[in-house]
Amino acid sequence: MTERLEAAAVERAAALLRAGGLVAFPTETVYGLGADAWDARAVAAVFAAKGRPSFNPLISHFPDAEAAFREVAPDQRARALAARFWPGPLTLVLPRAPGSRVDPLAAAGLDTLAVRVPAHPLALALLRLAGVPVVAPSANRSGAVSPTTAAHVLAGLDGRLAAVLDGGSCAVGVESTVVDLSGPVATLLRPGGLPREAIEAVIGPLAQADAEGGEAARPSPGMLLSHYAPGLPVRLDAAEVGPDEALLAFGPPLPGAGAVWQLSADGDVVEAASRLFAGLRWLDDQGARLELRGIAAMPVPMAGLGAAINDRLRRAAAPR
Ligand code: TXA
Ligand code: MG
Repeated sequence: MTERLEAAAVERAAALLRAGGLVAFPTETVYGLGADAWDARAVAAVFAAKGRPSFNPLISHFPDAEAAFREVAPDQRARALAARFWPGPLTLVLPRAPGSRVDPLAAAGLDTLAVRVPAHPLALALLRLAGVPVVAPSANRSGAVSPTTAAHVLAGLDGRLAAVLDGGSCAVGVESTVVDLSGPVATLLRPGGLPREAIEAVIGPLAQADAEGGEAARPSPGMLLSHYAPGLPVRLDAAEVGPDEALLAFGPPLPGAGAVWQLSADGDVVEAASRLFAGLRWLDDQGARLELRGIAAMPVPMAGLGAAINDRLRRAAAPR
């Protein structure tokens, strides 16, 4: 049985991690499925629990930039971004430090490592007590919608992990923005909880990795097109909706849907991001209960967190 731990149980969670166990914990973005990054067996167990392909590397999490920069070699750009945005929803891909002890499987054999310092009090307390880098992919089965509550974690992974630390709902609601700084050209690998515009204000324009994993120089191995997939098919840019469909609304809802989840009544992309994954799950449940044929998603603007929302919706709608 998977233990469900309350906030006060951070010490127990850290002990389980240090003993090689898998512990899900809240971050400001989504819940992560944590394991000791130095422990090869624990890292392998993360891939197994998620059903994750071993070519898709994991992010290592740290309580502060100093700890992160013992495992990777930061340059000026990395130091500037860390100083400005950590703790926060930004992941940096950097050359591995010569003395790094992060298990090679965590990086899927690459000579780079993805590192981040999450902005969540429980995550930071856990990382400090654990005293080791903690790999943590989103705590869902591979390809499924990412979890933003402890209940979502258990819905997908109950029995496959030692414990989940319950910190309520994640404030940001979409995963961290991933920026590759391992080469001379800073490249956006995954739009996420930190808007691209904010990063570009510090280090200048970012190149764009081809999200489809096609022609671009260095696509992120994890950016499979079909991902974040709810059970029901998703239809994008809906301009009308039928009674046999569930509606993911943004702003005034289209009339006539069989079920409605409002992302943000006032069209606020920050609020919408925080409600996106819970909404996909809820509409999926309603769809099954009411025998609806799909989810129709209203358009969301691209500015700010809109880029991450549109990226996740496009993957949710991709052919499986
Ligand atoms: O917000 C988040 O980032 C959450 C929380 C738990 O921290 N974690 C998360 O992890 O979303 P995951 O495993 O679902 O996504 C990690 C992404 C994948 O797209 C992966 O391919 C990419 O980061 N990544 C990891 N290491 C990389 C590397 N060395 N080079 C390029 N991409 C890398
Ligand atoms: Mg994920």
